[in-house]
Amino acid sequence: MASLWGGRFTGKSDPLMQSFNESLRFDRRMWKADIVGSQAYAKALSKAGILTAEERDQLVDGLEAVGKEWAAGNFKSVPTDEDIHTANERRLGELVGSVAGKLHTGRSRNDQVATDMRLWLRDEAHQLLAFLKELIGAAVARAEKEVSIVMPGYTHLQRAQPIRWSHLLLSYAWSWHADAERLEQLIKRMNQLPLGSGALAGNPFNVDREFLAKELGFDSPMPNSLYGVSDRDFVAEILFWCSLTMVHLSKFAEDLIIYSSAEFGFVQLADAYSTGSSLMPQKKNPDSLELIRGKTGRVFGGMSGFMMTLKGLPSTYNKDLQEDKEPMFDAVDTLTACLQIATGTVSTLTVNAEKMKASLSNDMLATDLAEYLVRKGVPFRETHHIAGRAVKMAEDRGVPMSELSIQDFQTLHAAFADDAVEIWNYERSIDQRCAIGGTSLKTVQEQISAMKKWLGTA
Ligand code: ARG
Repeated sequence: MASLWGGRFTGKSDPLMQSFNESLRFDRRMWKADIVGSQAYAKALSKAGILTAEERDQLVDGLEAVGKEWAAGNFKSVPTDEDIHTANERRLGELVGSVAGKLHTGRSRNDQVATDMRLWLRDEAHQLLAFLKELIGAAVARAEKEVSIVMPGYTHLQRAQPIRWSHLLLSYAWSWHADAERLEQLIKRMNQLPLGSGALAGNPFNVDREFLAKELGFDSPMPNSLYGVSDRDFVAEILFWCSLTMVHLSKFAEDLIIYSSAEFGFVQLADAYSTGSSLMPQKKNPDSLELIRGKTGRVFGGMSGFMMTLKGLPSTYNKDLQEDKEPMFDAVDTLTACLQIATGTVSTLTVNAEKMKASLSNDMLATDLAEYLVRKGVPFRETHHIAGRAVKMAEDRGVPMSELSIQDFQTLHAAFADDAVEIWNYERSIDQRCAIGGTSLKTVQEQISAMKKWLGTA
């Protein structure tokens, strides 16, 4: 069969141009969306009086048969199948004859492709949401089980204050939770229907776009046909969403890579998510996490590349827009893999609670020392200074602060009393941070309950 646009052309396409132009090799994965969209359109055409009921059924059934070939993996493309839309229409014609030529009445590949992409992405986004929830569920389950484990918390990668391991796990879970909320908002925004916009100016047969929207599960038809065919904000948004979610995954990965090094030894990855070295027999490398961290770059690249494509385009459809698919597919595939790998990694790693606890040192309680004096009525700015001098005193003597005597402390401030020994207790320090969002047992358990409620597992 000749190309879809053969009538006006007499010259042949350059073979390199043909392959340059062709997108079937990647847009074939939208075959189902294309079939479903066309079936709905056939119904709308019959409602508009363009197709008889019999013709409509022929088209709907024929498209069903084309879909079956894709599903079974035996759809055979031919060199003139420029894209998934061309391929499906060509095959439909072979199966049902000339009535296939009526399907594209008033439709353009411009409104068709924009519709297919939204349909495809909507399904994938729901799948991503499910994977994200599994990941959050895995982190929350661990947080609940290991709530008594304490560890050093870091700022600037320097030991700062003692925290619960669960509090750290939940910090990742909260950023993924925000990602999930963002994705839900994005699904809502992408759920607007371009079909019925024609090539750019609108549909001349007054197809019922409300019907089409309902048929395909969209919230409403897009309100302007020029906007309908050209808007790719939903692609830009999913690329940004994937990028930001990768930032969160990358931070989680980087933390655990550091914590799994021998120098820290806080966690050990399961064999299932590590690899060995071809040369050094002792090695166990955190490849799962390194790949998550590394793939963050590629997802960013897809986003910035596509933003460059959009920048400077004139209104409505331009072939540049065919460049929207590969970054979208790649980002979705990457997230689909990374979310599952992160879930597997976090649910199977082992935690070395003793090592975490042994890495706490009582200089990490210097803030608590200052707070002790605050509770005795000394202004914080002064107490900060006094606690700093206590740190220095212990350092000069080469002993931990807890070995300084009450008399020593009293040389720094008269408010120190015998109860100061209670400062040197990490759990106590942790449980004092009991305002909403803190690392205390109570406030960590509140976070776990809130998360389980949100996940529907409470
Ligand atoms: N393969 C094209 C794309 O992905 C379909 C739309 C083609 N429209 C056109 N006017 N050439 O964008």
